[in-house]
Amino acid sequence: MKEIDIRDVSKYEGEKVKIKGWLYNKRSSGKIHFLIIRDGTGYIQGIVEKKNVSEEIFELYDKISIETSLEIVGKIRKDERSPFLYEMDIEDIKIYHLTNDYPITKKEHGIGFLLPLRHLWLRSRKQWALMRIRHTVIRAIRDFFDERGFILIDAPILTPSACEGTTTLFETDYFGEKAYLSQSGQLYMEAACIAFKKVYCFGPTFRAEKSKTRRHLMEFWMVEPEIAFATLNDIMDLSEEFVVYIVERVLEERKEELKILERDISKLQNIKRPFYRISYTEAVSFLHENGFPDFRWGDDFGAPHEVKISENYDKPVIVHRYPKEAKAFYMKEDPENPKVVLCMDMLAPEGYGEIIGGSQREDDYDKLLKRMQELNMPIEDYKWYLDLRKYGSVPHSGFGLGLERTIQWISGLHHIRETIPFPRMLEKIYP
Ligand code: 4AD
Ligand code: MG
Repeated sequence: MKEIDIRDVSKYEGEKVKIKGWLYNKRSSGKIHFLIIRDGTGYIQGIVEKKNVSEEIFELYDKISIETSLEIVGKIRKDERSPFLYEMDIEDIKIYHLTNDYPITKKEHGIGFLLPLRHLWLRSRKQWALMRIRHTVIRAIRDFFDERGFILIDAPILTPSACEGTTTLFETDYFGEKAYLSQSGQLYMEAACIAFKKVYCFGPTFRAEKSKTRRHLMEFWMVEPEIAFATLNDIMDLSEEFVVYIVERVLEERKEELKILERDISKLQNIKRPFYRISYTEAVSFLHENGFPDFRWGDDFGAPHEVKISENYDKPVIVHRYPKEAKAFYMKEDPENPKVVLCMDMLAPEGYGEIIGGSQREDDYDKLLKRMQELNMPIEDYKWYLDLRKYGSVPHSGFGLGLERTIQWISGLHHIRETIPFPRMLEKIYP
């Protein structure tokens, strides 16, 4: 007999098949038992009627509880009224492992209870939907760059120096020397884009941020394209194209999952180019008139400011040209205004805030060196990086998109923690 995945069930209407999985839920009218089975690829309702099975199988109902692993055999039938569209008329059941007292029940559990049970919580329907959306976003990211001739260059995770400032570094011992978990692959992508023109890296990055917000993880995935000869305008365009591509792909492939998450799809269908673009200075004026009269020009935006700005738009908004003081050392000064740098942040709508940070990089050796000296950076550690400005330097730009923030926004989640299989949060590293 054919053993199938539930995701393929529509191909087997009228046929007798075997499905292996776990009991997701059960109910009974006394004469008929209803078993909801999940197999990781989907859900199906199994119907156990007295007339179709042996007494022994019929009575299994009382013994099996949620997350019992089992195998069911029976004919597949389409039923428009069924929550899962297809049902199986069960003829036989084989138990693999009887589960008792599965800790996660159908009642609402608090997050403090669920987080330490993440290894089990992943089986829940909402988590199932989220991880499948994550899978699709990752595939879309890779396809987007692949279709455009980008070469994947993996950046190292153990690094000798900081990319995004020294306050958020995870330090480790590297044979008696200090090393750090990578905050960003950018500096390495800058080297690679001179060798391959259009490159990207995509991997885990680490920030020891002592912040406990709904948007911060200690370990998150970032995709970072870097392009030789590209300017700030070029990457603003690319970032819009990129985000539209990801959202379209999720809408195409993950309708069922978005429905499980009760996501308002119309908000996503609206994500078309062009997005909005405003300068930092314009954004500050907006804040002054909208609840933050004391915001000081020169400071970086915090979460409440980003929320306020992005709530004002029905599509993502790109804020460009932030004050030099608020941003990283490698950003190129705006030739038209030395107080600001040629950078951009993309803020997702509905108050989700920053999902992308990027910039044109300083490509002039003397200017970059001077900036690093002003910031008291250990020049010796960055000699290789300065080399890139000595040998065939060109204008170049890139950005980083945070995978989990993007999933959070697309899925409409209040908190980022459920967008990654095993979240690392402030002082929480179990399981
Ligand atoms: O703005 P960030 O710090 O930019 C960089 O790291 C650049 N070097 C990228 C580049 O130009 N190649 O981070 C980029 C994105 C943010 O917009 C955000 O989406 C995400 O990474 N991010 C985080 N996501 C979750 N938790 C955190 N603690 C994050 N910090 C940044
Ligand atoms: Mg940023």
